[in-house]
Amino acid sequence: MSNLNGKVAIVTGAASGIGLAVAQDLAGQGVRVIISDVDVERGRAAAAELEGARFQAADMTRPEDVHNLATSTIQSEGRVDILVNNAGIQHVAPIIEFPEEKWRQIIEIMLTAPFLLTQAVLPDMYKRNWGRIINIASVHALRASPFKSAYVTAKHGILGLTRVTALEAAEHGVTCNAICPSYVRTP
Ligand SMILES: NC(=O)c1ccc[n+]([C@@H]2O[C@H](COP(=O)([O-])OP(=O)(O)OC[C@H]3O[C@@H](n4cnc5c(N)ncnc54)[C@H](O)[C@@H]3O)[C@@H](O)[C@H]2O)c1
Repeated sequence: MSNLNGKVAIVTGAASGIGLAVAQDLAGQGVRVIISDVDVERGRAAAAELEGARFQAADMTRPEDVHNLATSTIQSEGRVDILVNNAGIQHVAPIIEFPEEKWRQIIEIMLTAPFLLTQAVLPDMYKRNWGRIINIASVHALRASPFKSAYVTAKHGILGLTRVTALEAAEHGVTCNAICPSYVRTP
């Protein structure tokens, strides 16, 4: 990862927190970053601050947005070298009270969207025999806490997806890794 100058990266949930910090770091290394987020105002503001970055709105609960994010980046930039699946939310409630709609939303944003984005960018990475997929998981990919059933399930799941992707993609020059942060002070 030492020379990233000129590479193209998609970072989801990059209007805030960890995603924004990742986008800033990549842009500082000369990467053309596609800042993607459901929050249009903050996403635009973040992209305006970073050299070579642009904003693309995408709601990770909408498969058409997810698909469009990948295809429009490949069309406009000619490639995707790096994908950072970072967008995430939390909802805290005991299982017996956990709203089904929240469960579905968390699984869609934090598990289904990373799968769909991975599926959409891999063919382009395979063609060039180079790619990096980084999934922002959590210590909750490794350990459970009460009242966070959907979050812990999604994070355990993304670790499984990371391992499968790594095994399938290695022979094509593509690596897939997960990062499991502990508490980080973010909005
Ligand atoms: N902060 C922590 O302590 C911590 C610890 C471990 C893992 N994480 C993980 O790091 C990632 C980033 O979290 P953060 O703490 O920076 O949070 P954050 O709230 O600061 O940023 C999350 C971003 O995701 C965006 N987002 C939310 N729903 C979306 C959707 N439907 N489509 C597209 N974007 C959406 C938000 O608008 C926001 O900009 C998450 O996956 C989170 O689970 C955070």
